[in-house]
Order: sequence, then structure tokens, then C-alpha cells
Amino acid sequence: MALVTFSNPNHKDKTVYAVAGSHTDTLLKLAKENQVPVNFDCQDGECGHCVVRVSSIDDKDRMGYHLTDKEKTVLLELGKLTSDDIDRLALDDMPSEWRLACQMIVRDEDILVEY
Ligand code: FES
Repeated sequence: MALVTFSNPNHKDKTVYAVAGSHTDTLLKLAKENQVPVNFDCQDGECGHCVVRVSSIDDKDRMGYHLTDKEKTVLLELGKLTSDDIDRLALDDMPSEWRLACQMIVRDEDILVEY
């Protein structure tokens, strides 16, 4: 069970439990199920409206994972990451602080999501 805290300066913080490990539940799906108003449009990793900043709020290091190809393209277009950032994250097996909520699968870690 993972704790996901959604935070936005215009809304009260909301912390929800996420059942991690299904490999299908996205952060955007979790937000919608819990009435957290994360922006979205395409829900398919192409528009960039659902960009969020993700950080760890437990003692463990974040789990490494690879960005989807769609995320790489959109995060580059938005200027959130550079090609060097993407190469470094893949090489070091580190998570990106910037993600697309519609592409990020929730994992078993406690995270802060700024939207
Ligand atoms: Fe369009 Fe996520 S909703 S990229």
C-alpha cells in the first residue's frame, strides 16, 4: 500500500492510499477516483496537460523506472527535461521528478505529487 499526497497551492492537500502493483493504475486514474483536480486532456501521453512533479516522502530512495517514449517526447517539448537529463536518468536507473500523470503507474512508494 502506497501513500500518495496530492498538493496544489489552490487546493487542500489530499493523501490517498494506492494499491500498488497492478501495473495498470495510473496516477491520473488515482487522482480522478479521489476527485483530485489534476489537469488532463488526451489521457494518452501526448498533450502534456497532466504534467506533475513527483518526489519521495518516505525514508526510502525512489524506485528507478524508465520514462515512456511519449513522456520523453512531451517532457522535452515542455522543457521539463533535457536529452542529457533523460540519458542520465536511464543510465543511473533513477526516476524523473517530472512525469505525466496519465503515463505514470503507481508503485509501492510514498510520494508527493505537485500538480
Ligand atoms: Fe495528455 Fe496526460 S492527459 S499527456
